Amino acid sequence: MSKNYQKFAEGLLQYLNDSPTAFHAVENAAAILTESGFRELKETEAWSLERGGRYFVVKNSSAMIAFTVGKGDPAKEGFHIIGAHTDSPGLKIKPGACTVTPDGYVKMNVEVYGGAILQTWFDRPLALAGRLIVREEGVLREKLVQIDKPVFMIPNLCIHFNRDKNEKGSCNRQTEILPLFSMKKEGVEKEEYLSALLQEETGIEVADLVDYELFLYEYQKGIFTGQGQEFISASRIDDLSMVYAGLTALTEAEAGAGCQVLAAFDNEEVGSTTAQGANSGLLLHVLNRICKNLGMTDEGYFQAVANSTSISADLAHAVHPNYSDKHDTESRPVLGGGPVIKYSASQRYATTALSAAYFVEACERAGVPYQKFVNRNDIAGGSTIGPALSGLTTIPAVDMGAPILAMHSIREFGAVADMEYTRRAFLAYYEGGRL
Ligand code: CO
Repeated sequence: MSKNYQKFAEGLLQYLNDSPTAFHAVENAAAILTESGFRELKETEAWSLERGGRYFVVKNSSAMIAFTVGKGDPAKEGFHIIGAHTDSPGLKIKPGACTVTPDGYVKMNVEVYGGAILQTWFDRPLALAGRLIVREEGVLREKLVQIDKPVFMIPNLCIHFNRDKNEKGSCNRQTEILPLFSMKKEGVEKEEYLSALLQEETGIEVADLVDYELFLYEYQKGIFTGQGQEFISASRIDDLSMVYAGLTALTEAEAGAGCQVLAAFDNEEVGSTTAQGANSGLLLHVLNRICKNLGMTDEGYFQAVANSTSISADLAHAVHPNYSDKHDTESRPVLGGGPVIKYSASQRYATTALSAAYFVEACERAGVPYQKFVNRNDIAGGSTIGPALSGLTTIPAVDMGAPILAMHSIREFGAVADMEYTRRAFLAYYEGGRL
């Protein structure tokens, strides 16, 4: 294993472990960018950009667009955009956070976020992270919190009461996934269990807490596994591994003629139509501001957009060793075989022959292998930010991603080599010229 590869693999695992929510993924990305000389811009303030300058802007603390201004004429060179997402499926604390049963159990009241494989959340220590809105001296402020302690658990029903569990694995989303937090304490109201934990861990007074967005996450950390430690088993590989590969490529890339852009959106797992999601004006606003800031007219801006390309980076399905018939007979990406270009005739992936070709060229320049994926006709499969991204911007997109197993499990499973191949392909894409 080369030194660079080792460094990338360790950095990736650290990023996954340190980023239990989209808020933390953006905070940690901002730290990596700042360390590499990127300056934060505020949406609410005037920008003053320089050619070759490195910048990023954060939206809602859960999405981020980072870019290096190109040295050439943007109207001719366009933008080289990589898009990915910061959110992951999971369990979110509802307003009315706790419920107390007649038997005296205190349970967290949770809502399912995105398409989580719920069974994987059982019998695992769960911790809590997200953001709080607090009132400090009459001003509303946002505080990120991470209570990195194993405070919750969703115990399974024993096999003796559920004899056909192994044959019928379904669970009820309202009644069966509420994590146990405590036994009832005399004189404690149900509203007080969560606020006491928050106060104990953050020092924030209950009276100052206005609202929260809190998610459960797996307390146990991600690890490398496999005979040669070539695999990675961790939470949130979808899609933080692509965010991290994009971040690494963007910080390593030499400023080129065109603008290099990394867009990490929130809310992909719930359809992307939010202010901080891909199906919003966020990216277009930033592209427009870059152009106007460089003194370009509308005419120049529209030329720049027309000369741009994008990559929608989200993970792909590797052929599963135990379910090999779930893939099309001729389209069978495997772990370690390189990033996967994803096709869909119904355009649930945005790839066209042309957009695939520019990604293939980047792989070839980088010397990395690539694979192709299309669903079986009798399996609908998923979607990505690709269709929204290219529809809104009119910039062609190729949908691609590293192949993984166990997508949307609390622990997903991939090969480190694919993430590293992806980083190298992204670097070649950023540094390459216009098509
Ligand atoms: Co994804």
